[in-house]
Amino acid sequence: MSRSAHPAGPRYADVLPEGHYVAPPADLNALDPRVWSRTVSRGEDGAVTVGGRDVRALAEEFGTPAYILDEDDFRARCRAWREAFGDEADVFYAGKAFLSRAVVRWLHEEGLNLDVCSAGELATALAAGMPAERIALHGNNKTTDEIRRAVESGVGRIVLDSFQEIARVAHIAERLGRRQRVQIRVTVGVEAHTHEFIATAHEDQKFGFSLVGGQAAEAVRRALKLDGLELVGIHSHIGSQIFDTSGFEVAAHRVVGLLAQIRDEHGVQLPEIDLGGGLGIAYTSEDDPREPHEIARSLRAIVTRECEGAGLAVPRLSVEPGRAIAGPTTCTLYEVGTVKELPGLRTYVSVDGGMSDNIRTALYDAEYSVALVSRASTAEPMLARVVGKHCESGDIVVRDAFLPADVAPGDLIAVPATGAYCRSMASNYNHALRPPVVAVTGGEARVIVRRETEEDLLRLDVG
Ligand code: LLP
Repeated sequence: MSRSAHPAGPRYADVLPEGHYVAPPADLNALDPRVWSRTVSRGEDGAVTVGGRDVRALAEEFGTPAYILDEDDFRARCRAWREAFGDEADVFYAGKAFLSRAVVRWLHEEGLNLDVCSAGELATALAAGMPAERIALHGNNKTTDEIRRAVESGVGRIVLDSFQEIARVAHIAERLGRRQRVQIRVTVGVEAHTHEFIATAHEDQKFGFSLVGGQAAEAVRRALKLDGLELVGIHSHIGSQIFDTSGFEVAAHRVVGLLAQIRDEHGVQLPEIDLGGGLGIAYTSEDDPREPHEIARSLRAIVTRECEGAGLAVPRLSVEPGRAIAGPTTCTLYEVGTVKELPGLRTYVSVDGGMSDNIRTALYDAEYSVALVSRASTAEPMLARVVGKHCESGDIVVRDAFLPADVAPGDLIAVPATGAYCRSMASNYNHALRPPVVAVTGGEARVIVRRETEEDLLRLDVG
């Protein structure tokens, strides 16, 4: 949503901070293809379809709120990443964005690997048949049980995050008679978030081994000495919702610098580097993310240039996109329950979900878009705040958005780009029942994660 100073102070000016004016979009019925998944369109009767299914029929069949996942879009994104990076690189989907057994099968079929960061994610991956050698285990405090299960199942790599963990993984692997492939996660001194990267305050974080403090080099020394470990590479992850590759450039420079130092000190060249995830998506029409092939081209060029400069053979590159694959595939379908106009302030549109199915607005001040999807409207634009049904005033789904002024109880509205970090971060706050994830493709819809029931809640309550 574009914000600019507006001299005339029209109807909306008084609701935004300090004379800022939010311009309504030219056509409220239009669905920006950068923000909505690829099979979304508005039919002739004005209702929106996803994967060939009318949202009104989806709401009827599966209830609201519901996450509607466009399977063709998900698979197309997997293929785009896979093809962009080619056979000389690996794409690990970051399961924390959203994981289910169906997703694991799609990843497997589309040739992607999987990054997991807990026993639960590992169990889901294995249950759905992802070959263990294509799984990487992450985390700054993996439990011994998680490490044991990962080593026993034969995961392709464990990304080491602390000195204690180096010893723990080596010990567990030796006891199991294994040699575990590992990478070392380093803190490269770049912390990238939303359009910018900040080269300060980066050392002060819980993940990884510091490069400047020499801990990364020490971690390498220790890992190389242990029989239970096969050190294959260096890992770096610089942040989230990143729109350009300048942060990766700094990260690659420093990671390659460490590879050169390892060669000089130990006479070995590690064969892999992983530059992590973090590539941004469009939540609103203001966001302009890069395509996977552009990202792949620039990451390859950066790594190649850095390696040539250091006189190293180019290692196998891997990346870990989560949001960039899952995020744009899904919209959350809500039913409007109440519309409350506060004269001179704004109009609150309450929906039947909220911070329990999308915590990102409350937690990160994230921006989202919204559209009326059960019908088209020619009513004038109304600046709205879409809020949930939770007992908390911070329960905001979309902070500032235009909806048609005739939006009314019973209408369906949808929030796009909710495929990443919404269902995976959903909660039962106020004993809300977490919504289902419905996958839609070729006119068929099926539940891949069912809606929670009151029985589910009461089953955990054993008292
Ligand atoms: N690799 C590692 C080691 C990570 O820690 C993460 C995300 C990823 C890959 C995937 O990043 P992505 O491509 O999805 O940005 N809950 C926050 C995001 C936290 C991301 C944590 N790590 C949000 O909702 O924005």
